[in-house]
Amino acid sequence: MTDKVVLITGAKGGLGSFITRRFLETGATVVGASRSISQQDFPGPNFTALAVDFTKAVAVNDAVQSVISRFGRLDVLVHLLGGFRGGESVAETDYATWEQMRDLNVTSGFYVLRAAVPHLRKSGKGRIVALGSLTAVEPHPQLGAYITFKAALAMLVRTVALENRDAGLTAMSSCRAP
Ligand SMILES: NC(=O)c1ccc[n+]([C@@H]2O[C@H](COP(=O)([O-])OP(=O)(O)OC[C@H]3O[C@@H](n4cnc5c(N)ncnc54)[C@H](OP(=O)(O)O)[C@@H]3O)[C@@H](O)[C@H]2O)c1
Repeated sequence: MTDKVVLITGAKGGLGSFITRRFLETGATVVGASRSISQQDFPGPNFTALAVDFTKAVAVNDAVQSVISRFGRLDVLVHLLGGFRGGESVAETDYATWEQMRDLNVTSGFYVLRAAVPHLRKSGKGRIVALGSLTAVEPHPQLGAYITFKAALAMLVRTVALENRDAGLTAMSSCRAP
């Protein structure tokens, strides 16, 4: 992985911290993104912190462009960013919760995929992995907003996979147990 540039969204989170450390161990150049991430979170020469709010389209475009300007390429996108809310039936779910789950779990994915795919195509062996959820493939009571948008993310990623086969780019969303 020493010649690869990897962008990880949600790099500072519970899963994100672990996955970011594992990529750093491979020798890849890792750009870790979240709103509050800093260089001190993963000290080391091959880590770059990118502070960005992934619910803002222009900011996401600028962030991806800054990766290309600095490193000249992008080979892997690990899209971990997401948010969880549960405990309410669909009838009890308020509009703000619905919009928050939409923005964190699918709109952020659309923004970063839209910005990153043209660069990942140029890699020749581009890879996209989006963190899904087991709950995205089966309905669950009291999880309507979360699972609806995780399911939408999975469909978005599968569509990207179909659209970019010609460039050797693969895209998958982890939804099922192996
Ligand atoms: N944990 C589980 O058991 C579990 C199970 C199934 C699926 N998942 C999925 O796995 C992924 C990671 O879960 P997790 O539990 O590790 O999440 P987490 O600990 O809540 O971490 C979320 C990460 O996203 C960042 N973030 C939140 N809002 C953001 C925004 N608007 N823009 C940019 N960054 C933002 C946070 O950092 P900042 O605050 O610095 O922005 C943080 O790095 C999610 O997609 C989740 O749905 C988790």
